[in-house]
Amino acid sequence: METERPHVFVVLGASGDLARKKIYPTLWWLWRENRLPKDTTFVGYARSPLAIHALQNSCLPYCALSADEDALFQSFWQKNRYVAGSYDKDADFKRLHSELDSSAGARPHNRLFYLALPPSVFEPATANIKHFCTTTQGWNRIIIEKPFGRDAQSSQRLSDHLASLFHEDQMYRIDHYLGKEMVQNLMTLRFGNRIFQPSWNRESVASVLITFKEPFGTQGRGGYFDSFGIVRDVMQNHLLQILCMVAMEKPTSVNPDDIRDEKVKVLRSIKPLQLKDVVVGQYVKNPEGQGDAALGYLDDPTVPKDSVTPTYAMAVLQINNERWDGVPFILRCGKALNERKAEVRIQYHDVAGDIFEGETKRNELVMRVQPGEAIYLKMMCKSPGRAFDLVETELDLTYSHRYKEVPMPDAYERLIEDVFVGSQMNFVRSDELREAWRIFTPLLQQLEEDRVRPVTYVYGTRGPKEADHKLLMNNFKYSGSYKWHQNHK
Ligand code: NDP
Ligand code: BG6
Repeated sequence: METERPHVFVVLGASGDLARKKIYPTLWWLWRENRLPKDTTFVGYARSPLAIHALQNSCLPYCALSADEDALFQSFWQKNRYVAGSYDKDADFKRLHSELDSSAGARPHNRLFYLALPPSVFEPATANIKHFCTTTQGWNRIIIEKPFGRDAQSSQRLSDHLASLFHEDQMYRIDHYLGKEMVQNLMTLRFGNRIFQPSWNRESVASVLITFKEPFGTQGRGGYFDSFGIVRDVMQNHLLQILCMVAMEKPTSVNPDDIRDEKVKVLRSIKPLQLKDVVVGQYVKNPEGQGDAALGYLDDPTVPKDSVTPTYAMAVLQINNERWDGVPFILRCGKALNERKAEVRIQYHDVAGDIFEGETKRNELVMRVQPGEAIYLKMMCKSPGRAFDLVETELDLTYSHRYKEVPMPDAYERLIEDVFVGSQMNFVRSDELREAWRIFTPLLQQLEEDRVRPVTYVYGTRGPKEADHKLLMNNFKYSGSYKWHQNHK
């Protein structure tokens, strides 16, 4: 890292939800841990006139401050400045430029621009950054938050606009799932272990299930959510990125472009989704629920009463290549479900030539992304002791047990650090984005043009029963017999 040169980190949309809940807390943690170049200052920019202490107070609840950190927290905020201005006025960006210069003490410095902005102001804001706020005496990097468009066409328009302003290597498109421990671990697990490689294919794998579940609804965020829906919000980005990491061939090296080349190849082997490949759902209130659970999606005042936006989706993708032909990759995600969970589940074929009278259950290799990172391999064993029965058991690597002392940085911490050092490995390249939209756009268009009504599911349940049926139809067997004994820990 160029530790000597000053750096200025600019948060555009500094007064917003993402900035308050995620970006400022992340900057504070990185700064506190001395993970940033020493001479880094932070400049917030948004329309509302805001004093630094007001910004500080609004971020405080998300900063996880310990009792003795007050003074340190104050020192962090002394490194912060704030400029109020619009997103489309040259004069305001010229003022921002002067502030950036002065916050670096008028010395040559590098600039990072974090765009925590609504899509509606994306284009003018980026054009103004380019024309009035970039420095010629250091590098400029732009961190872009999703949504990257809402379909193939709008995403391409945005990509063309950005490409007319910045080089690809200046742009860091964030998918924060690529910053999660277990998602990053997929590379090592797959390519650093001889044992998995020979069975990581259609000969051994029956199906791959990639899941994201949240136990809460849209919680007043319905306005934004309703115009996007769960497919755009989670599936087209977070789950598809995980799929790429699970399915890609071994890259030539760990060079970011070698990795992204392989991810793009996987995406190119997937046909666009059709209606028959999916189940879409929308949650209704739980009659016994309290608080949020007593409200269905359509009861949210920010959601139109006749909305057909899915809050749950399952999609079955087929990867048409030699390794995966015929193996369903099942992506499923939903809000207002029974638990918080994100995981990858590789389910293996049944044992061939059974000699145990149908007692064996399929092996499963589970990589749990959250909560509580874990990798476990479900397997059959002889029941311990005198009997010769079979039992389902597991080889278990629970991180909180095995790596008790290791601090686990948040996904945003890792990714922002990556931008400082200029590593694109965990960021989305424009051709990945294009392929992702190619796969999802026809389905999204059909859902919206035909106003396909989602099936309903009750708040706090596992989701629609139609989804379990779809699992069954796609070579995922649930036996219901596996028991996990937590007291192992
Ligand atoms: P299960 O056999 O209980 O579940 C396997 C899969 O089947 C899950 O994907 C589950 O997802 C799905 N499923 C559940 N009910 C049905 C149904 N009726 N029809 C179709 N699919 C269904 O095994 P798990 O691997 O989930 O393990 C059970 C518990 O043990 C989990 O809570 C797990 O976290 C815990 N465990 C923890 C370990 C650790 O911490 N290291 C190690 C091993 C297990 P869903 O319900 O989301 O649909
Ligand atoms: C965001 C989605 O990208 O990811 C949210 O917009 C979702 O709807 C969030 O809640 C989940 O992130 P995490 O890290 O809490 O799993």
